[in-house]
Amino acid sequence: MVMETKTKRVEIKKDIYWVGAIDWEVRNFHGYTYSTKRGTTYNCYLVLDEKIALVDTVYGPFANEMIERIREIIPPEKIDYVIVNHVEIDHSGALPEIYKLCPKAKFLGTAKCKEGLYKHYYRDWDFGVVKTGDNLKLGKRTLTFMEAPMIHWPDSMFTYCPEEELLLPNDAFGQHYATRERFDDEVNQEEVMEEAKKYYANILWPLSQIILKKIEEIKKINIPIRMIAPSHGVIWRKDPGKIINAYLSWAKNETKSKVVVIYETMWGATEKIAREIAEGIISEGVGVKLFDVNQVDRTEVISEMLDAKGFIFGSSTLDNDMLPNIYGFLEFLKGLKPKNRIASVFGSYGWSGGAVKGIEGMLKETGIEIIQPSLSIQYVPDTDELKQCYEYGVNFARRLK
Ligand code: FEO
Repeated sequence: MVMETKTKRVEIKKDIYWVGAIDWEVRNFHGYTYSTKRGTTYNCYLVLDEKIALVDTVYGPFANEMIERIREIIPPEKIDYVIVNHVEIDHSGALPEIYKLCPKAKFLGTAKCKEGLYKHYYRDWDFGVVKTGDNLKLGKRTLTFMEAPMIHWPDSMFTYCPEEELLLPNDAFGQHYATRERFDDEVNQEEVMEEAKKYYANILWPLSQIILKKIEEIKKINIPIRMIAPSHGVIWRKDPGKIINAYLSWAKNETKSKVVVIYETMWGATEKIAREIAEGIISEGVGVKLFDVNQVDRTEVISEMLDAKGFIFGSSTLDNDMLPNIYGFLEFLKGLKPKNRIASVFGSYGWSGGAVKGIEGMLKETGIEIIQPSLSIQYVPDTDELKQCYEYGVNFARRLK
């Protein structure tokens, strides 16, 4: 059931309103690939001028919430243009409802957006294709379009309002963060950056080269940006440079002296090895985060990995291979294509090994450099073997430094 929020529309700039929706309860996004412990928002913006434009919409079940906010400002049928920055249904899902209310509105987006919308809704909406540099004059204000393919779908586009120095980049710079507040300076700074980082790590990480180029392109044309209003989470009004700089750092794969140890254990032997390895890392003054894949939220672990230089993976052996949930984790990580990381592998076994070999194979496919031979211990580690685990951690930390 959708819980509607009665919060009023919010004027983010003179005659430009947030008219989106707050999804307090969603806990899984993109199927079950992203956990949203703080919910999310679907942001869309109404620009009033001689002509009226709605930039993006919301996820379909929240269409009424958005329409009610629009109605507080204008009758929806007065909308002249609907800018579709992105086809994904969390932003386009309310388009059929909007079309019913304003059938004369012209939809605008990229050529890929036109294709994608048709393949989602099978409707012949009046759709105009726009390209980078195209301008839509609304009256006193202009909307300028900038294609942003693969940030994060082929259809993605940013919209910029030069008169207000306002960037509407859809998913980019967003966070899955449901709050009553609409602006960055109204919320807990640690929380908002944590959610922004999680968003980047789990969705945008594999697209880092494209993001880097796009930010450089924006810097080169030197457009002033006083506010960034993304399609999820809060609006960056106090210091938009803060999120741009964070994106630059993440896109450049900048890392800290930090190791993420992640393992799956059957009866606790692999866990014992993991803990000793972590002790060895700590003894060298290197940061460490230790996770049992079955006890943690994968979305949060991936976020921890975004700025960690080293990864260490472990598993008990089952049927001559690693356990299934660490396998699933590594498959997900492979898709994120982490660059410039170092790794090593450990595990326990009974009568025949196989887990470490399986993990090594997956790391090679992922392109992560394995910097020391894997550590494989039979059954439960004894005192000497625990020392070996500790030294293994020490050696990894030294190599990382
Ligand atoms: Fe928030 Fe790519 O949709």
